[in-house]
Amino acid sequence: MPQVFDLILKNATVVNHDGIGKRDIGVTGGRIAALGDLPRVSAGEIVDCAGLHILPGFIDSQVHFREPGLEYKEDLESGSRSAVLGGVTAVFEMPNTKPLTTSAEALADKVQRARHRMHCDFAFWVGGTRENASLAGELERLPGAAGIKVFMGSSTGDLLVDDDEGVREILKNTRRRAAFHSEDEARLHERAPLRVAGDAASHPVWRDEIAALQSTQRLVRIAHETGARVHILHISTAEEVDFLRGHKDVATLEVTPHHLTLAADDYARLGAWMQMNPPVREARHRERLWQGLEQGIIDVIGSDHAPHTREEKQKPYPQSPSGMTGVQTIAPLMLDYVNAGRLTLERLVDLTSHGPNRIFGMSRKGRIAVGYDADLTIIDLKRQETITNAAVGSKAGWTPYDGKTVTGWPVGTIIRGRRVMWEGEIVTPSVGEPVEFVEALPKR
Ligand code: DOR
Repeated sequence: MPQVFDLILKNATVVNHDGIGKRDIGVTGGRIAALGDLPRVSAGEIVDCAGLHILPGFIDSQVHFREPGLEYKEDLESGSRSAVLGGVTAVFEMPNTKPLTTSAEALADKVQRARHRMHCDFAFWVGGTRENASLAGELERLPGAAGIKVFMGSSTGDLLVDDDEGVREILKNTRRRAAFHSEDEARLHERAPLRVAGDAASHPVWRDEIAALQSTQRLVRIAHETGARVHILHISTAEEVDFLRGHKDVATLEVTPHHLTLAADDYARLGAWMQMNPPVREARHRERLWQGLEQGIIDVIGSDHAPHTREEKQKPYPQSPSGMTGVQTIAPLMLDYVNAGRLTLERLVDLTSHGPNRIFGMSRKGRIAVGYDADLTIIDLKRQETITNAAVGSKAGWTPYDGKTVTGWPVGTIIRGRRVMWEGEIVTPSVGEPVEFVEALPKR
């Protein structure tokens, strides 16, 4: 009797934590049921993946999808559409929506809006505040929670905990790894006059490397004092990489594709389109981020997908808001770097799926292994494509990489065994479900 599966992916090159090799993948009930040479099998659907690579599904642990409250910029459906078009199988979404995601009710509302409406799986960061600090340990374990996110420097929205005592109170109460936007608010306030009207190139002068470093040093000190684990989002400075290499016991690091790709000399071309918090800086920072990535100091790549409308971005600096789309372009940009020899495919997988699995402890996601969810990103490593505004699934409808030609492209997104995206089309209705985490398994 041949073995029977729901889906078999045949003849692909599978890239995984244990290396690269030709394997077939058998899927049953949304989970990986068999791996290896599967010649005498039958299945509801057999997909021939000859010439393609199959990677564990990309996890983007930092996106802003704007719902509720700011749906004119993005919503959970459109943001996740952009995600799956880019090969991303799960996202962790940020709390600076309206209302802010700072309570159990606000989180439950997001989960309800997202379930079976988002195209990919999801979790939501809960905003840490002075007011909810004593509840952080409960909030971080609620169904659908990715953990607690804290803004130490102000950015888009009203979330801010800028004092050591506030951060300490939160970290005393968390057990899971909390995530931080790390820029020193007092220094940002003091340097605000350095912004030059109409000149986005002054953004990194205002929000300088010392603002990032000082905040990160404070955070790491408090993490050691409280015995907490922290995740530092969108690292942007050479100085933080040098500092944090000595604190890998408590700190994990995220880097974004824009900080790896753009540098200060691009402001002349892109102006406020590349205005982000923390900012894109001089090329020496970009080079050190790459070194940090090569040396394993960086744990994950997140996009910080932060859409704003064209009208908003066209306002003269500093009225222009900080943020750009990104969830759809992680795979194309990073695969292009793989082809250019800047990182291996194995290291990319380490950053986009094993890294999130290791540091956030997702149940059954982040590896291609029997018993794991069949979340897979299928890529054509040699396909040349041009990134365009027209293809952006986000409501924002623009990317700073419009016109950039890359080698390496996501051609399929499989989520819990369903082909959600194939060759640039969404082919299965949305069935997004909350990601489960081992430290917060739901009581049933
Ligand atoms: O540039 C940014 N935009 N950085 C953030 O921290 C927030 C984000 C947004 O929500 O627009």
